[in-house]
Amino acid sequence: MNSGFGHGKIILLGEHAVVHGEPALAAGLAAGVTAHASPGGGRLRVAPWGLDATAGDGTQAGDALARLLDHMGTRALDFEATAAIPSRAGLGSSAALAVALARAAAARLAAAETRALRAADEAERVFHLDPSGVDVAAASSGRVGVFRRAEGWRPIAAPRLRVCIGLTGRPRDTAALVAQVARHLEARPAERARLARLGDLARDGATALARGDAAALGPLLAAAQTELAALGVSSAEIDALIELAAKAGAAGAKLTGAGGGGAVIALAPGREDAVLAAWRAAGFQALDTEIGGE
Ligand code: MEV
Repeated sequence: MNSGFGHGKIILLGEHAVVHGEPALAAGLAAGVTAHASPGGGRLRVAPWGLDATAGDGTQAGDALARLLDHMGTRALDFEATAAIPSRAGLGSSAALAVALARAAAARLAAAETRALRAADEAERVFHLDPSGVDVAAASSGRVGVFRRAEGWRPIAAPRLRVCIGLTGRPRDTAALVAQVARHLEARPAERARLARLGDLARDGATALARGDAAALGPLLAAAQTELAALGVSSAEIDALIELAAKAGAAGAKLTGAGGGGAVIALAPGREDAVLAAWRAAGFQALDTEIGGE
């Protein structure tokens, strides 16, 4: 077996705040990226994303691959990957790819999972400069969990939850948005209170899920969206998706991931089909997913 898998992910609560030390509540998706490793010279192809790169070729993907392979101790591998999640859509595609590649390399080299995950973290640094680590943690775990920079990933036993995902169609740039939030906070230090509030919402969400109370999450999502919008990471498409979800009966909706584009998640117990239909009727792509239930 020379293959590896990395899950796509959604952040339910706590994105951006997690970069600054607060907790985030995240979940791996069943869909993700599968990579196969074979002897070669550091070439990577991901046909569904139109990606063809070679380690160290000066592209972001090529540089990330070089970083990953160097951490694994060899560049003498080629990779073919298939992806069931869109790239740059806020669903953790770069982390899912990095985890899949690192696991495939580890399988080929008989290296430990811990080494593979460190290599995936290194690769993520090329894409996201100073990632909190939540994307790689969720991509490798596949479960619902709480991540905090100081403490790492803690999976929680969450009830099965249907989550509607709407795609804005606008690619997001995580590194640029994280830098934008840092500038926002530098100019207005009082706004740091929003990070603490986002962290509290993530804690409350984790507590609610751990006691099986999924219904409590909707209002928490809506409250988090208010804070994220005030930090400047929402967009016209995100706002449109959230409004459509609310009109279709969602209990709560928010951007997920870095924002500025990317994806929106909505919780709409019993109204999921209506939310997905409303998004599709307005021309947005929509995914019907489930998390939790382990
Ligand atoms: C991106 O999925 C989540 C951010 O919080 C960045 C990070 O945690 O590295 C925006």
